[in-house]
Amino acid sequence: MCGIVGYIGNKDAPVICVEGLKRLEYRGYDSAGIAVVTSRGLDVRKVVGKLANLEALLKEQPLHGPVGIGHTRWATHGKPSVENSHPHISCAGDIAVVHNGIIENYADLRSRLQAEGHEFRSQTDTETIAHLVEKYYDGDLAAAVRRACADLEGSFALGVLHAKHPDILIGARRFSPLVIGIGEGENFIASDMGAVRKWTDRVYVIDDDEMGVLTTDGVDLMDLQGKPIERSVYVIPWPADAAEKGGHRHFMHKEIYEQPMAMRECLRGRLSDPDRPITLDGLNMTEEEIRNLRKVVLSACGTAYHAGLVGRYLIENFARVPAEADLAAELRARDPVVLDNTLAILVSQSGETADTLVALRELKEKGAKIVSVINVVDSSIARESDGVVYIQAGPEIGVASTKAYTLQVLTLQMIAAHFAEVRGVQSPQALREFKEGILCVPDQAAELLSREDAVREVAQAYYQFHNALYLGRGINLPSALEGALKLKEISYIHAEGYSAGEMKHGPIALVEPSLFTVAVAVQGSVYEKMIGNIQEIKAREGPVIGVATDGDDYIPGEADHVLWVPPCPELVSPATVQIPLQLFAYHVADLRGCPIDQPRNLAKTVTVE
Ligand code: F6R
Repeated sequence: MCGIVGYIGNKDAPVICVEGLKRLEYRGYDSAGIAVVTSRGLDVRKVVGKLANLEALLKEQPLHGPVGIGHTRWATHGKPSVENSHPHISCAGDIAVVHNGIIENYADLRSRLQAEGHEFRSQTDTETIAHLVEKYYDGDLAAAVRRACADLEGSFALGVLHAKHPDILIGARRFSPLVIGIGEGENFIASDMGAVRKWTDRVYVIDDDEMGVLTTDGVDLMDLQGKPIERSVYVIPWPADAAEKGGHRHFMHKEIYEQPMAMRECLRGRLSDPDRPITLDGLNMTEEEIRNLRKVVLSACGTAYHAGLVGRYLIENFARVPAEADLAAELRARDPVVLDNTLAILVSQSGETADTLVALRELKEKGAKIVSVINVVDSSIARESDGVVYIQAGPEIGVASTKAYTLQVLTLQMIAAHFAEVRGVQSPQALREFKEGILCVPDQAAELLSREDAVREVAQAYYQFHNALYLGRGINLPSALEGALKLKEISYIHAEGYSAGEMKHGPIALVEPSLFTVAVAVQGSVYEKMIGNIQEIKAREGPVIGVATDGDDYIPGEADHVLWVPPCPELVSPATVQIPLQLFAYHVADLRGCPIDQPRNLAKTVTVE
């Protein structure tokens, strides 16, 4: 969603802000802007569209200065336009504000401020903040920002500049992520540490209701009452070039290729030997708690929800704990009943998804123990959880989640195996087989990547279709749902993911030669049933791509094309089955000429409900 980068130091702030914002482009945005304090006062440039437009404008109308704030906006209040893009400016034109989040009481604040004589130039909620800071400013900028924040309801990460304080940059937060990057003779604010990693690996992660006052030489951290706070420096563990494409044409492609290595990293120190117990650092559950579990509720959005569905299957089927999975956006509406000894598992790549955070708070308030499966270290969901198992995927930039999904699945497989182990509900042999299967996943993922050319050939045959059906059953129903989501979001082909068992209850009406079906039919307990579904589709002249286990000699005779995967235990298969489906979606989108890393209307991290 929206991105913030602010800079104070000896370099040219617009250059740093634009470069930092480019690292956040993947999050999705529709306009961009920048404000700088110059010797003449505050100067602003704003455009609709991509950062390239902002760069073009900066060439025509250059802007230079050592302190600045930049923003990429994803419209919520008010359409994408120059007036509505950030930074927003006070009436006197000397205060500039960039903002991520939503101010829920902005209509109220706006009419109060208008009644007091403030003139608004945009339809945004953010502009109220610039006027509030102006209203409260009496020579102390930090105090004015604090008073303004006290009036705000909702979520915000803010960057604030004042023409009369060219030596100060202010950042503040409530519910929207904000970090302060610590440099030598320079400091940064950013909505994501990836935006400042090029210049520093040292950051302060700002908490809710906290702010930072940055100068060239230092950072003062305080809460929104003005009380100083101590915060240890977080050292970003990934290298500066982790957010570069590294020779791949798209981040999505790079991230698909990072899977084998990231999977090894995810397993390291947790599961290395099938004969030894799994250790899950960060889970923070005693053996007694695991043995006493009465129910597990998994909740997440989008792709992470699909991983949650795999987790539900595993925890119920293998660890023998009743489990359910809920879309985070739906959970609160149902006012869920939380029993004693309920564990909630929240799954999120970013750790900042608003609906998932709301679901977490709902479940926590009702007494559930909270464990999250997260990629971004120290993110909001991670910090509000009782335990966190990090998937350790490194930065995921492509909007379409790939490596985060398979690593979420792998992590949930380890959690389920660990629970089964502690609860003593599986035979040593079943446990060993499962763990051996999990340990084979990284090598199988590498093997699957070596088959990319064959997947591209299949994509050649289908990229001009307009409709697709993805079918799966049992533990691979989520693989079908996730395969369909990947195809639709990056290629814009209409794709439905369905339980193959439901096919005769509706979707079969769609089957005809112009709709292709991807049927996940790997070896396992539902194989025969999937064969039945494939036959029913072929009988109605629907083209079929079967996802089949190496050596299957039946499916090639039935399906029009086959995506092959190496044999593995059924419970392990969702971690590998997804890889050819990711590559298939990628190549279909590429052949259609789609903007793979930035699909229309989508944002990488959805920080509003
Ligand atoms: C799709 C995709 C989204 C996310 C969803 C949740 O490819 O990436 O569906 O999975 O927005 O995001 P996180 O995992 O950050 O909570």
